[in-house]
Amino acid sequence: MAFKERVFSGVQPTGNLHLGNYLGAITKFVALQERYDCIYCVVDLHAITVWQDPLELPKATREVTAAFIACGIDPQRHIVFNQSQVAEHAELAWIFNCVARMGWLNRMTQFKEKAGKDRENASVGLFVYPNLMAADILVYRATHVPVGEDQKQHLELARDIAQKFNNDFADSIRAHGHGNVFFPQPEPLIQGPATRVMSLRDGTKKMSKSEPSDYSRINLTDDADAIAQKIRKAKTDPEPLPSEEKGLETRPEADNLVGIYAALKGTSKTEVLREFGGGQFSTFKSALIDLAVARLGPIGAEMKRLGRDPAYIDSVLADGAQRAQVIAAETMKAVKDIVGFVRS
Ligand code: AMP
Ligand code: TRP
Repeated sequence: MAFKERVFSGVQPTGNLHLGNYLGAITKFVALQERYDCIYCVVDLHAITVWQDPLELPKATREVTAAFIACGIDPQRHIVFNQSQVAEHAELAWIFNCVARMGWLNRMTQFKEKAGKDRENASVGLFVYPNLMAADILVYRATHVPVGEDQKQHLELARDIAQKFNNDFADSIRAHGHGNVFFPQPEPLIQGPATRVMSLRDGTKKMSKSEPSDYSRINLTDDADAIAQKIRKAKTDPEPLPSEEKGLETRPEADNLVGIYAALKGTSKTEVLREFGGGQFSTFKSALIDLAVARLGPIGAEMKRLGRDPAYIDSVLADGAQRAQVIAAETMKAVKDIVGFVRS
């Protein structure tokens, strides 16, 4: 069966949005608007799998929403909302808790990283987090999911859940007139030179919201001075830049900066090295600063402006939630019939 093409993705309202979120995810969200119907969600239910201060969470939700809009997502042509306003996400996640197997979730590397050594003390929600993520996507029967490299394993799990549901309930799916398959196999969209942006302090670690040193990342709200300072201080090695991509293989910091430049410019690492290969880092860093400030400066300014108008942000979320819920409710009705729940 051919499914209607639809894009879904989510970002957690936890801490500062940074260049990794921007290049790995949000710029892709923006580009996909031209070709697809898109649904972009601020995933507050996911956020509380680890402790969130209830006074900070609403601010963070509004800040991610402001970032979406400031980066160029159009909440009128597409759908922008926060997850907790559409109860069907949690409802479908429960059903997926009963479809997914313990063994599948036990293999998730992000749970192991986030739970750390004290696994006994991690929330149950953190363990079943990927089931909720599968529900986010499949409650809209979305076909394409733009994410950074770190979400690849979770996407594979979502595909496994979709397939197991389709198999387990095959007869019922047919009996209720939904053809042979109910859920599509959502396709991850993970491409380009910056699917995994690394820390500016350590090229072997992912740039992340939770890293204690602010010098490890460029935040979307950083001003020009902060961006310049962080790039100037970014770790490098003593060699000049190589002329070919192969020369980056054993040089994680150089590879990272070249990837960031390529992604910001909308070109490839090969092209960047054609221009800067053989040169010193100082020259390259100056060019990178100019480019980063030109791209991120206006976004930070617009986020600040939107930050002064929470009523507008809340109206965007309310409107998006209403439109999302219409689609999600339709799917849940069918899912309840398929599973065998009595409904009125
Ligand atoms: P999160 O902030 O964890 O909700 O992530 C939101 C999106 O940003 C997801 O699609 C992630 O895969 C992506 N992302 C997060 N950190 C990075 C990074 N360092 N490089 C590339 N993409 C990232
Ligand atoms: N787990 C994703 C992250 O941490 C966020 C997310 C939640 C998501 N639900 C999703 C991404 C559905 C894509 C599709 O980055």
